[in-house]
Amino acid sequence: MKKITIAIDGFSSTGKSTLAKAIAKTLGYVYIDTGAMYRAITLFAMRKGYIDTKHFDGEKLVEALDEIDVHFEYNGERGFAEVYLNGENVEDLVRTLEVSQFVSQIAEVKEVRKKLVQQQQNLGKAKGVVMDGRDIGTVVFPDAELKIFMNASADVRAQRRFDELVVKDATIQYADVYKNVVERDHIDTTRKDSPLVKAEDAIEIDNSNLTREEQYDILLKLVGERVK
Ligand code: DC
Repeated sequence: MKKITIAIDGFSSTGKSTLAKAIAKTLGYVYIDTGAMYRAITLFAMRKGYIDTKHFDGEKLVEALDEIDVHFEYNGERGFAEVYLNGENVEDLVRTLEVSQFVSQIAEVKEVRKKLVQQQQNLGKAKGVVMDGRDIGTVVFPDAELKIFMNASADVRAQRRFDELVVKDATIQYADVYKNVVERDHIDTTRKDSPLVKAEDAIEIDNSNLTREEQYDILLKLVGERVK
């Protein structure tokens, strides 16, 4: 069967990665979570003290970019590839609200995007890949055979993210999560370099009222039409 590239873009907490992982598993495709790559660089910047609530030293980060290795390694038990920062598995560490609070600023840096986009294009060269992010259908793989743009209301997305975070940290407040979702939407859609926009040929899925199974079925049908 023909192998294709599937680009899944959209707003934060729209369930892109859950859907991407499920479809990659069914098809035997490689799944790449590009948000995790931006998050890993954010964690690096936080640890080095380049970014905190009061300041962001973008120049220092750009100077240090060659020292940063971000890659994925497949974890058979979890059934997907986990993200590594300079040899350390940071798959869970990059999911905290703290990292989420800084990641959009890091993702605005032109040099960071250049480094990661190049790496993503290399990872996807062989086809048979599902990649999720913000600029996959517009910048990374403008020729992808299937482009999906995921959306849901800010309320629904904040509730989903809150439900995920509260099991790990009972002190998390819904209001903070909601604020972070809205702030990230703003930064992601208005940044100069590769803002989040729906590619002209992308198919929009608003999943505010769709179950996981319903989304999966829609996507599988779209894939089926393209691999014939
Ligand atoms: O998908 P996510 O929430 O893990 O992404 C984290 C941040 O990284 C998000 O706020 C925007 C940025 N990002 C990006 O700019 N381009 C991508 N391809 C993926 C993520």
